[in-house]
Amino acid sequence: MSANRSRIVLLISGRGSNMEAFIHAVNAGSLDAEIAGVIANRPDALGIETAAAHGLHTDIVDHKQYPHREAFDTELAMTVQTLEPDLVVLAGFMRILSPVFVEPFAGRLLNIHPSLLPKYPGLNTHQRAIDNGDTEAGATVHYVTTELDGGPAILQARVPIVAGDSAESLAQRILPLEHQIYPAAAQLHISGKLRLVDGRCALGHELLPDGGLLWPLNTDNDQALRDLRESS
Ligand code: GRF
Repeated sequence: MSANRSRIVLLISGRGSNMEAFIHAVNAGSLDAEIAGVIANRPDALGIETAAAHGLHTDIVDHKQYPHREAFDTELAMTVQTLEPDLVVLAGFMRILSPVFVEPFAGRLLNIHPSLLPKYPGLNTHQRAIDNGDTEAGATVHYVTTELDGGPAILQARVPIVAGDSAESLAQRILPLEHQIYPAAAQLHISGKLRLVDGRCALGHELLPDGGLLWPLNTDNDQALRDLRESS
């Protein structure tokens, strides 16, 4: 790997399918970065085995070993810093992070949330979309701020909600799109063309809508995005 490639650190709690999407995107060359390490807050996180099998550096910072959230967040931040990340990616990381962690990584900390943000921050997003009679659901990649699932959105994918959908069937329809939009959003960040303006993402001179750019990017008519593709 080239010495000046962006370094990505992934934080996981469970199976790590989004983490695997990053590994594939790096290997395929669609994400111009290297994975500096994968950190889990649970010793039994399945994704840690997968990361190790790919030869990646792994760490466990077990939240149960710390007396309170800030103590855990301090140790987690130190572990992440040791890996000298340009970008920190929450990939199914199921802990709320306090300012102790969020502030040092502000502007280079991403999350994916399985809803059409700003709708349904928090848990049980698929069921809440079904219960509300929504016709669409999806996933959103956003910068992390201290507001839960509330930071500026970069990229969003939408799927229809169909008759008979359960939370599980909807999650299964959305997950493959998560695997596409998350590395793509990371690549947009790494390209250096995304800016944060008054709490919103901007690409070139265009402020992005509340939900960010709409996936797939190649059907988007936004001039700034065309400029981005032409210059990269
Ligand atoms: C994903 O649906 C993600 O959106 C949510 O948690 C799930 C994690 O899945 N935050 P995985 O561990 O990446 O497979």
